[in-house]
Amino acid sequence: IMNNIIFDTDPGVDDAFALLYALNHPNINVLGITTVFGNVPVETSTKNALILSEMAGKGTIVYQGANKPLERKVINYPSFIHGQDGFGDTNHPHPKFNASKLDAAQFIINEINENSGNINLVAVGPLTNIANSIKQDPSIANKVNSLLIMGGSWLAGGNITPVAEANIYNDPEAAEIVFKSGLPIIMVGLDVTHKVFLSQKDIDKLSSLNNSGKFLKKISNIYMKFYKDTRNMDGCFFHDATAVIAMTNPEFFKYKVARVYVSQDNLTRGQTVVYLKDLKHETEINDNRGFVQVLYDVESKKVISEYLKVAKNYMH
Ligand code: RIB
Ligand code: CA
Repeated sequence: IMNNIIFDTDPGVDDAFALLYALNHPNINVLGITTVFGNVPVETSTKNALILSEMAGKGTIVYQGANKPLERKVINYPSFIHGQDGFGDTNHPHPKFNASKLDAAQFIINEINENSGNINLVAVGPLTNIANSIKQDPSIANKVNSLLIMGGSWLAGGNITPVAEANIYNDPEAAEIVFKSGLPIIMVGLDVTHKVFLSQKDIDKLSSLNNSGKFLKKISNIYMKFYKDTRNMDGCFFHDATAVIAMTNPEFFKYKVARVYVSQDNLTRGQTVVYLKDLKHETEINDNRGFVQVLYDVESKKVISEYLKVAKNYMH
């Protein structure tokens, strides 16, 4: 089966792992890459997406999107995690090609209307572009096959605050629009991504395979140091790539069906509040929003070996 996807991203070190996987995977056809602020300013996201597209060599076009959240100011960019340049301060030269003039949200709307029922959205940054698409054309909700989101958390707590995951925290109003929209969502949050580690050994292995692997190792230095310093880990969480692998290999994951609400309050900003379908709460804020799949468990080793397999066989 061929999955047509639109890849929405803020590269970002773990985004780079995810995007190279998607661009090179034999069963994935990336129709376009849309960029958003998040790990870095959107202009840097765009430059980095162009670098990755060039590396994969398929001429995949990049569409620049939102430079800030719908209603809030941008928070500080986490250069201590991803580097100022999003790629571990490796100062990669500017790619040959430029981004399209077409705005990301407009591209998403056009593609979905032209390929109704045949598109999977993968969103691994703040949800601003997806929310803008829904706001501009609510009819797209029924025309999308699936929307995979790397973001949120059911029971795993947060990473940017004690209760919020960074992508949702960065634009909680956008996330709420998306979770309310009726799109067939698969939420790949910290419940699973905090169970998937990429070790230094895995990264060394990758770098022995091909140029893409060498590049991934090179950009991972600051990222790996961050996990060593803050969590004493000899590896990193494999957030965004895990979301893509949830699409190619859903058999590695377990999910619950639930309604998800996004907190906009100050203290709990960006928290995803998960009401399970099969658990009756005394009170439920039921606005009849659609049910989504919340992934909560994963066979981590299979995710890593699947990644390494695709890297070995298809990256160059
Ligand atoms: O919380 C993890 C997410 O935040 C990942 O998408 C990472 O790239 C950052 O954007
Ligand atoms: Ca990301």
